[in-house]
Amino acid sequence: MTIRKILTEPDKFLRQISKTVLKVTDDERRLMDDMLETMYDANGIGLAAIQVGVPKRILVIDLGKKENKNMPLFFVNPKIIKKNDKLATYEEGCLSVPDQFAEIDRPNKCTVEYLDYNGKKKVLDADGLLATCLQHEMDHLEGILFIDYLSKLKRDYIIKKLTKSKPDRIVV
Ligand code: NI
Repeated sequence: MTIRKILTEPDKFLRQISKTVLKVTDDERRLMDDMLETMYDANGIGLAAIQVGVPKRILVIDLGKKENKNMPLFFVNPKIIKKNDKLATYEEGCLSVPDQFAEIDRPNKCTVEYLDYNGKKKVLDADGLLATCLQHEMDHLEGILFIDYLSKLKRDYIIKKLTKSKPDRIVV
């Protein structure tokens, strides 16, 4: 497994719409393994392939951190087939928008249809953190970031902060 580089805003690549995976092969499994390793290394709970520069409709999620065990979930071509009208609010961050957080409202429950690690068709009813996380990651597949839900003023402020060049740090 290889830790890959995570792209960060304002990288235009993140705004691409990811492509449907025609077949889950060893290539996709290798990518999913790398994504999981990359996500663990960065202390994230979800990652979309586009964030490591691959425009395929693939996500990895692991919410097992609280229980101190790895519980990886893999989603290929995820599609929301049902979502609740009721909203839930979480303070969201994103590995592609480093150190920025904002409260975002999303449907508190959703049902997702997808292919798993082995290419098998599955349906999952998600609620709580998993529902939010899935919707956040699926937004990445459409080129959408959580900051897009904020006012233009707030979003521009965050992008400006991320764009500001930092001086090189040297250790001699
Ligand atoms: Ni994200």
